Amino acid sequence: WRQMKGEEEEDEQKRANQLFLKHTTLHGLRHIFLGGSYPRRVAWLLAFLAALALLFTWSSNRVRYLLSSPAYTKAHMVYAKRLVFPAVTICNQNLLLPRRMKKTDIFSAGRWLGLFGRNWQITPAARDALTPPWSPLSRILDFDHFLPPPRESQPSMRQLLDRLGHQLEEMLLFCRYQGELCGPRNFSTIFTRYGKCYTFNSGQDGRPLLVTMKGGMGNGLELMLDIQQDEYLPVWGETDETSFEAGIKVQIHTQDEPPFIDQLGFGVAPGFQTFVSCQEQRLMYLPPPWGDCKATPMDSDFFSTYSITACRIDCETRYLVENCNCRMVHMPGDAPYCTPEQYKECADPALDFLVERDNDYCVCETPCNLTRYGKEMSFVKIPSKASAKYLAKKFNKTEQYIADNILVLDIFFEALNYETIEQKKAYELAGLLGDIGGQMGLFIGASILTVLELFDYLYEVKKNLFYSKAVYFSPTDNLVKHSEHLSAGLLGRRVVLKHTYLLRQIICAEV
Ligand SMILES: *[C@@H]1O[C@H](CO)[C@@H](O)[C@H](O)[C@H]1NC(C)=O
Ligand SMILES: *[C@@H]1O[C@H](CO)[C@@H](O)[C@H](O)[C@H]1NC(C)=O
Ligand SMILES: *[C@@H]1O[C@H](CO)[C@@H](O)[C@H](O)[C@H]1NC(C)=O
Repeated sequence: WRQMKGEEEEDEQKRANQLFLKHTTLHGLRHIFLGGSYPRRVAWLLAFLAALALLFTWSSNRVRYLLSSPAYTKAHMVYAKRLVFPAVTICNQNLLLPRRMKKTDIFSAGRWLGLFGRNWQITPAARDALTPPWSPLSRILDFDHFLPPPRESQPSMRQLLDRLGHQLEEMLLFCRYQGELCGPRNFSTIFTRYGKCYTFNSGQDGRPLLVTMKGGMGNGLELMLDIQQDEYLPVWGETDETSFEAGIKVQIHTQDEPPFIDQLGFGVAPGFQTFVSCQEQRLMYLPPPWGDCKATPMDSDFFSTYSITACRIDCETRYLVENCNCRMVHMPGDAPYCTPEQYKECADPALDFLVERDNDYCVCETPCNLTRYGKEMSFVKIPSKASAKYLAKKFNKTEQYIADNILVLDIFFEALNYETIEQKKAYELAGLLGDIGGQMGLFIGASILTVLELFDYLYEVKKNLFYSKAVYFSPTDNLVKHSEHLSAGLLGRRVVLKHTYLLRQIICAEV
């Protein structure tokens, strides 16, 4: 019986093989194992192996491509019905107006401004610079009989810059947005390294953001400013706060981003009308491993949205608080403001070092979403010869004053569309599956279902082996099996019947 059983099993195994080879969709195998002359079968075998090798090299190539996280950049233009007008920050190049300084102010800030040397002696360079029309100022520079106020009542740097900076009420001669007049109350005050600055459409203090529904010049912001050049701090030496230029600095930025005007602003000169035609650009980068933008939320006590500017300001603030134990007026936080002495001794040099020479301390990654404004500028002269007299009369100033101090700034959207530049994943899992599937079809004619067939076959083989060991066959059983095989062969449904047969075997064994 045992021998017979072995033969039976072998038979069974052979049949399963034949069945698999006949019906499998892996065509190559049929030609290799079933029929044909010997050389023909060898040729088929070689062809099959070559196809298999090609499949594996190409598939591994695709897998490696996926693992390299490829990306591409897509740029397109989007037409919008309405666009949020950007925030516009303006700063006068001049930090403070010395004519408004009182004796205590000069006492506090004089050293910082380089007005005094040691022992409160006015420096010779400063004395030379303070010729008329600065004589009134030089008169209060005499500290011989001056009793310095106690430290607590000396003005802080913030109070000094706030009170002595250029006031928008005096600078702003005319303001119009989309045909509607605006005034100083439509601006909010912000401190930067240029001192007191003003932001239009900042969205702060619960003000709604302004939107534009049309492009072109008449639908933007138009400002006429008096830069008050005659009030500029006279230059007697070269300190950090000295500026040789006259004009304003402007930055156009989103409301989410604080201004960083000393680094990113552009200049506007008096004597010109400057047209700035903007186009919004939205840049979307991918986080690693596709790109290198920063996807994690901002880790800062001061800012909620991440931007390079916020990161830089945050980092500079931490650096100053660490090194000087104080912060500059434009920095966020709750550390005490630096005194003018600290500005001169520590804060200014430290910040300059950080900005100009240190490349390691403040490394800020690109944010994943970034909105910037592309600008195109053009200029015309103002006032013209024809209008000089009229403007002088209108503002009750001399013609020379108008030519030296007036500027007009026009900021508008070129058209109501924005450009998106988007980094996208070039290859993903779906693509990989498609490619491997295509190659399987191309090289060996197989599909996912072929793989299932293979598994099914292996399962059958395994099962046969298992039962051949585990089940005891009785002669009657064998008879049943034979007759069943016969009928199965006739019906061509051998596999199905084999299942029922095995099932019966189990039942018999248990009984
Ligand atoms: C300026 O502010 C006033 C009052 O807050 C407001 O009524 C007006 O619409 C604003 N103008 C512009 C152009 O935003
Ligand atoms: C970036 O912008 C896209 C589309 O505007 C938005 O779906 C996504 O949530 C934004 N991602 C971040 C980190 O703000
Ligand atoms: C014009 O300015 C001068 C001095 O700058 C002043 O005395 C005069 O009152 C001003 N006139 C008007 C109409 O404001």
